Amino acid sequence: SAGSRVVVAVDGTSGSGKSSTCRGVATRLGLRYLDTGAQFRAITWWLLREGVDVHDAEAVAARCDEAPILSGTDPTGPTIQIDGVDVAVAIRSDEVTRNVSPVSTVSAVRARLLELQRGIIDGGGIVVEGRDIGSVVWPQAEIKLYLTADTEARALRRAAEQGGSDVAATAQVLAERDRIDSGRTTAPLVRADGAVHVDTTPYSLEEVIDLVVGLVLEAGP
Ligand code: DC
Repeated sequence: SAGSRVVVAVDGTSGSGKSSTCRGVATRLGLRYLDTGAQFRAITWWLLREGVDVHDAEAVAARCDEAPILSGTDPTGPTIQIDGVDVAVAIRSDEVTRNVSPVSTVSAVRARLLELQRGIIDGGGIVVEGRDIGSVVWPQAEIKLYLTADTEARALRRAAEQGGSDVAATAQVLAERDRIDSGRTTAPLVRADGAVHVDTTPYSLEEVIDLVVGLVLEAGP
């Protein structure tokens, strides 16, 4: 078997099917699951609630360590709390989605989350999703994946999730977020050394899960 200490690092663009894939793989293999994007979203939610100007990097850096964050790692029901508040639903709002990229460019935010993430990953047995897991957070991961999908396919998926909202507008928002995530100087979204690139466009979720489960089992104990 893949062994219980394996680390699967999954990076990729917004809406490439990362979350569903990672949860499915972790559930199938009995591994834990960590959504690092949810942590960046939780800090963003908290800063907005505190009235901090998220475009003021100094203000963000000054406050970003304050609120405790708790990430639950059960892939069948991942949880996220900040400052004692369950924010699993609130962090998916348009307001948080619009403001998370500027927050995640602040190096104090990344430094804080890096430490938190490494503490959770330590010991292994986990599937971790984000933008910089294979490149920065856990370069020694046994399995590294880089998931992408055509912008059009991602926009269709995302618009359907959001109850049929405008596909063209959704595509524009996704493209803008990718541009910021890939263009920032600290830990940009890149294909990490040794990462397997999977373009999920032509595949169903089950097909991608099968493929990744196969790669993990192949990598062995
Ligand atoms: O995966 P997501 O869409 O929930 O991530 C939200 C944002 O968080 C994303 O636009 C960039 C940032 N992020 C990051 O910078 N590094 C990570 N490891 C995960 C997310």
